[in-house]
Amino acid sequence: MSSPAPVWDAINGFAAYWALHTAVELGLFDALADQQLPTGQLAAATGVADAADLDALAALLAALDLLDTHGGTWALTDTSRRFLVSTSPAAMTDLVRLSPGSPAAWPRLAGTLRAGGPDAATLADTGDLMPDLVRATAATQRAVAAGVGAELTWPDGAVIVDLGCGSGAWLSALLDAAGPRARGIGVDVPHVIDSVASRLTATTPGIELHAGDYLTAPLPVDRADVVVLAHVLRAEPEARAAALTARAIELLAPGGTLLVADYFVPGAGHTADVYRAARHDLTLALTMRAGTAGRGVTEAQLAAWCADHDAVTTAVIEPVPRQRVHLIQRTTTARQRA
Ligand SMILES: C[S@@+](CC[C@H](N)C(=O)[O-])C[C@H]1O[C@@H](n2cnc3c(N)ncnc32)[C@H](O)[C@@H]1O
Repeated sequence: MSSPAPVWDAINGFAAYWALHTAVELGLFDALADQQLPTGQLAAATGVADAADLDALAALLAALDLLDTHGGTWALTDTSRRFLVSTSPAAMTDLVRLSPGSPAAWPRLAGTLRAGGPDAATLADTGDLMPDLVRATAATQRAVAAGVGAELTWPDGAVIVDLGCGSGAWLSALLDAAGPRARGIGVDVPHVIDSVASRLTATTPGIELHAGDYLTAPLPVDRADVVVLAHVLRAEPEARAAALTARAIELLAPGGTLLVADYFVPGAGHTADVYRAARHDLTLALTMRAGTAGRGVTEAQLAAWCADHDAVTTAVIEPVPRQRVHLIQRTTTARQRA
């Protein structure tokens, strides 16, 4: 007998998301950071007028494994302590708000799919979120980049180019790994450079930032030892993603490495089991379709774009869980290494 449970799970995903969003907004997890609290005190600490409302919210959070409870007292779980207390080094509290992209993009999704892409207002909404988004992901991206930097062999005075540098997390971590004579060049759109990355020029020696389109912005170098494309390809239409990959490969100095970090999707033609395993990446890909000109990227697409320019993935590393990074080299270099 078929069950409506998967339908309810999808419908209830909306309420589960807003329960989490509301708890973060009310400071509920922060209020429990150092203490367990009974309902009345937790309601007072979060400014909820009626304790019965707090009880209803907290009970749903407990059902979602985001709170624990013993005899009318509320407590954090290991997960909420690590990821939902705003002062935790691994806090995801900003991502709760930002990861779904522009909230206005979702109710428009049917129209977006019929039109073949988001309208200009939706694209602008997504662009407006970018400074907050790159700030919110900076700590994780810095950790990923540090893990990658430790795997690379750095020539003296290495040149690093980061196309779509965002917060500059990759550039600064790779500069740390590459040594004091390295030079880091970042490109991003003007409002991201101005509001986020520009603070790096004062604090990070060797860094230069350029505002413009990463496909066409002139660069002060014509060769780089490391080129970074971190979380940019999935938000681009296929032709631009291919052209961006081509630009990055063409920039590589002999022996240089292109780093591509993304949340890769399986692509078409797989079984439901494959898609179940890729649920997180598929969700992010649909988030791209709802709010950007892209619809995610597959590892097969990346391999084809690289092959067109005599380049190949030589290693895939995951320095932080769910953060896959392709190390790509020209085939001549890859053959010399083999
Ligand atoms: C998801 S963020 C990733 C930022 C950074 N690479 C990281 O991994 O932390 C995508 C970045 O690409 C930038 N971007 C989008 N379109 C761009 C364009 N046409 N030219 C330059 N940068 C662009 C965005 O402003 C944003 O900073």
